[in-house]
Amino acid sequence: MHHTLMLALLLLTLAAASASAAPKKPNIVLILTDDQDSGTLHRRFLPHTFSALIDHGLSLPNFFTPVSLCCPARVSLLRAQHAHNHNVTFVSAPWGGWDVFNARGYVGHTLPDFLQRAGYATFYTGKYMNAHTEENCESMPVSGFTSSDILVDPYTYDYWNPGFSRDNGPVTVHRGEYSTDLVRDKALGYLEDGLAGNEPFFLGIAPIGPHSWIPHDSPHSPTGVVMHVPAAHPRHANLFGTEQLPRSASWNPAKPHGVSWVRTLPRLTATQEAYLDEFHRGRLRALAAVDEMVGAVVQRLERAGALDNTYIFYTCAFRDGGAETADNGYAMGTHRRQPGKTLAFEEDMRVPFVVRGPGVRKGTGDASYGIVDLARTIMDIAGAQADYVDDGARMDIHGHHEARDAKDASDDNASDARHARHARHALAEYWVLGVEEGIYGGPWRTNNTYRTLRISDTVHSRKTSLSYAVWCTGERELYDLEADPLQTANLLAGLNARGPFADFALLGAESAALLARLDALLLVLKTCVGDTCRRPWSALLPRAQTLQDALAAQYDAYFAALPRVRYAGCALGYRAEMEQPEWDGAWAYVPPLVVQP
Ligand SMILES: *[C@@H]1O[C@H](CO)[C@@H](O)[C@H](O)[C@H]1NC(C)=O
Ligand SMILES: *[C@@H]1O[C@H](CO)[C@@H](O)[C@H](O)[C@H]1NC(C)=O
Ligand SMILES: *[C@@H]1O[C@H](CO)[C@@H](O)[C@H](O)[C@H]1NC(C)=O
Repeated sequence: MHHTLMLALLLLTLAAASASAAPKKPNIVLILTDDQDSGTLHRRFLPHTFSALIDHGLSLPNFFTPVSLCCPARVSLLRAQHAHNHNVTFVSAPWGGWDVFNARGYVGHTLPDFLQRAGYATFYTGKYMNAHTEENCESMPVSGFTSSDILVDPYTYDYWNPGFSRDNGPVTVHRGEYSTDLVRDKALGYLEDGLAGNEPFFLGIAPIGPHSWIPHDSPHSPTGVVMHVPAAHPRHANLFGTEQLPRSASWNPAKPHGVSWVRTLPRLTATQEAYLDEFHRGRLRALAAVDEMVGAVVQRLERAGALDNTYIFYTCAFRDGGAETADNGYAMGTHRRQPGKTLAFEEDMRVPFVVRGPGVRKGTGDASYGIVDLARTIMDIAGAQADYVDDGARMDIHGHHEARDAKDASDDNASDARHARHARHALAEYWVLGVEEGIYGGPWRTNNTYRTLRISDTVHSRKTSLSYAVWCTGERELYDLEADPLQTANLLAGLNARGPFADFALLGAESAALLARLDALLLVLKTCVGDTCRRPWSALLPRAQTLQDALAAQYDAYFAALPRVRYAGCALGYRAEMEQPEWDGAWAYVPPLVVQP
């Protein structure tokens, strides 16, 4: 044999050997529920999710959605971007939905596309995006999937008439079959494909539960649709028969809460309260099918011996309205609300987050992260990259970052910029219409544009959690979540009474100084891109990383002089001209010159 040929053969053999010896990248399973609130994370409601995931992994109570509506939040997940950067702000055109997503050129530039380019086989079943319909599913295909089997309108939220488009083909409607069970079976089928393949795989599973039920023959315009109590499978129909929403301090209060249209809500009647309890039970029953599905997926991975090399994420793109904070039940009926989301309260922003996987620490963490960060984290696990500047921070799911934080917070900046985030803030934004669901839900609400900043930090050794919002109406909200976790007392109600965007100076020096910091952080975040979203304090004060750093009295005059976050009025959609001024890097703090004597 020719020497060069022998050498080539030898090299080939070596290459093959080293390829097979290289550790396979981890598999990634993403379970994405629809409209679930973290209040439902109870062993009593989700026994399989607890025994298969939560008991073996990390739960983050401070996990937030960047927009409290499903279509925009899903785009944030698919693009690791805040809504002000992707500008898909509603469920339908001209502000959002599948056609707007296409028109913006995002097809081919999504999380699954990037995973595919990093060598992954990618599968997806369940709900993908709003306004993805039986009319456009063939002409506007989804991108990035080895195979997909996706629920499309008008069958997406019809629990007993689900319609799927497989691999961008025409719709198959399954009359009389239960949506979540079909999603389970399709997911288990894809799991076989993934496990049998040579590549690492990504599997996205997006059941509709516990979203409200929208019959497929409902009116086509989204604003004309009534969203009903979720439909249960008969095997779950008798579960939770006596379950009631908690009558907490924010439940149907005697005095109205909040701002804008929320302040005008009438008190709920006894009939409405009973309806909300029924709605709650319907949601729990819909979740029971999701819970079984989670158990089945994890069990299959375990039987295949794949758990050691598979990350399983469980989250929800946004949550339904009304709730206790943290871990005790949830409630529609808080602040006199009908079922729904789309507001600036904790119950709208906070969503469940659980991850189990290789090296993932067990227990709960107190870092603040969100959907945008989850997308970045999945890409990092896969060694994938977006082909634009994304806004996500790498989540510390293994515990490295937290250990370092405890040692020396200032260390953060020294290492990888992706890690460099104290993970203490979250931004949520909203435009277009506020939505109320159920048979008593009001008209879709205008004047529902706002930005919310959620911050958890240690200030002067005290745990501090604040929620700050600025509304298009000129109203502001500030809640001290340590003292008032249910957000019953807006600390800025008095300021709002003085008129739209009233001057902080009216509050007295100390409160004005704090508020000026929060407002400045929101000013930076509301147009942030990339690193500025991860490290917003650094944009203001080169040396600051935390609220406490920024509170130093030497910065009082600087913050007092910065422009405030404001809206020119309440428009529909994200219109930059309504939201001036925007943060300008030239406004960053410049230390005073020290003149040598
Ligand atoms: C966002 O999209 C809307 C159309 O839906 C458009 O009117 C608006 O100008 C866009 N905003 C920005 C800031 O690009
Ligand atoms: C919306 O807010 C404006 C103030 O910005 C107010 O004048 C108007 O009456 C509000 N509209 C509704 C429908 O509440
Ligand atoms: C943090 O890192 C940024 C970017 O590398 C750098 O510009 C800045 O000076 C650093 N800040 C500190 C306090 O080290």
